[in-house]
Amino acid sequence: AAIGKGNFRHFMEKELHEHPVVIGDTLRRMVDPSTRGIALPELPFDFARIPRITISACGSAFYAGLTGRWWFEAIARIPTDGDVASEFRYRTPPLPDGGLGLLVSQSGETADTLAALRYMREQGQHVLSIVNVPESSMARESEAVLETMAGPEIGVASTKAFTAQLVVLACLALAAARARGTIGAAEEAALTGALLEVPGRAADVLEKDEALQAIAARLVQARDVLYLGRGNCFPIALEGALKLKEISYIHAEGYAAGEMKHGPIALIDPTVPVIAVAPSGPLFEKTASNLQEAAARGGQVIVFSDAAGAAKLKGIATETVVLPDVDPFVAPILYAVPMQLLAYLVAVLKGTDVDQPRNLAKSVTVE
Ligand code: G6P
Repeated sequence: AAIGKGNFRHFMEKELHEHPVVIGDTLRRMVDPSTRGIALPELPFDFARIPRITISACGSAFYAGLTGRWWFEAIARIPTDGDVASEFRYRTPPLPDGGLGLLVSQSGETADTLAALRYMREQGQHVLSIVNVPESSMARESEAVLETMAGPEIGVASTKAFTAQLVVLACLALAAARARGTIGAAEEAALTGALLEVPGRAADVLEKDEALQAIAARLVQARDVLYLGRGNCFPIALEGALKLKEISYIHAEGYAAGEMKHGPIALIDPTVPVIAVAPSGPLFEKTASNLQEAAARGGQVIVFSDAAGAAKLKGIATETVVLPDVDPFVAPILYAVPMQLLAYLVAVLKGTDVDQPRNLAKSVTVE
C-alpha cells in the first residue's frame, strides 16, 4: 500500500513523530521483557574473542556508528575504529584475524558501504550489518544482520532510522559487555532500564516544538551555525549540523567542544549561533567551560540540557531547551530527536523542499 503523510506537512515531520514507536519496536526485538536483560538473536561469533571492531558507514549512519564506537569502547572495552566508507574502502587498513566488521545503513544499498563490507570480508572479519531493509544487498552479503525496526523512511534526510540504529548499537554494546564481563548484572539491568525509558522521553521531547520554534526563528537568520558536543554526544553534534545543512542549506559545522579552541572559535561572533548538546554527565563541566569561552566572544549559546545542566549554564545561555533527565548512556539517542526537529523547523521557515532536498538522494547506490 502507498504510504501517506497523514495529517503531517511532510514525511519528515511524520517520521520524526514515529521516534517513540520505532525506538520501542527496535528495543522490543532486543530486550527480554521478563528479565529486562539484553537478548539478541544468536550471533555467529563470540564477543569475548573479538580483538577489534571496525565500523564503516556513510552520512547519518556513520554518526550512529561513531556513537557505537564510544559505547563499545567505554562499556565493553573493545578496541573500536570507525571511518566513512568512501575513505575506509581505499585506505586498505589491515584488520586483525577474526575481528568484527560492522556496517550501518538504512537502505543496505549504499555503494561505498557495500564495498567496505566486501573489503572486511576479504580481510577475514566477521561481518555484521545493521540495516533497515532486511532483503538489501548488505543484509544478503553479511554473516549476520540486526534489523532496525524503523519501517519505510521516505524523507531523504534520515530521522527515525538513525535513532533505531543507535538503539541497536547500544544493545549490541551491552551484549558485548556481558560477554566480556565488563559490566555486572545490576549495571546491565540499569542501562537496559535507561533504554526502556527512551520511547517515553522521546515523546516528551516531541512536545517541545514551541521552544524549538523560537530557536528556529533565530537560526533561519544565520549564515553559519556551530554545533558542539563531547563524548557520546559529539556524534549528535555532527548529526545536528548535517541535518541543518541537508534540509535548510544553512552552513553548519559539528565540532568536538574541546577542539573548538583550535579553529572554529575564530568564527564566533554574535551572528554565529552555537548549539550545545550538553546533557549532564561525566564531561558536562568540560563542555560548560568550552561554552563559557564561546559566550565570552559574543557567541549566542543555545543550550540543550536537562534541568540540572540548564541551571548551571543559565548565566551564559541565550536560549535553553530543557530536556528530560536520562542516564548519560542513552543521552545520544534522546538528544538526536530535538536536533532533527530543530533542523526540520528551520527548513520549514525557509520554505525548502524538506523531503527532497536539492542535490541529495535517499540512497546513493553509485560511488
Ligand atoms: C544519503 C542520505 C542520508 C544517509 C546516507 C547513508 O546520503 O541522504 O540520510 O544517512 O545516504 O544511507 P544509508 O542508506 O547507507 O544509511
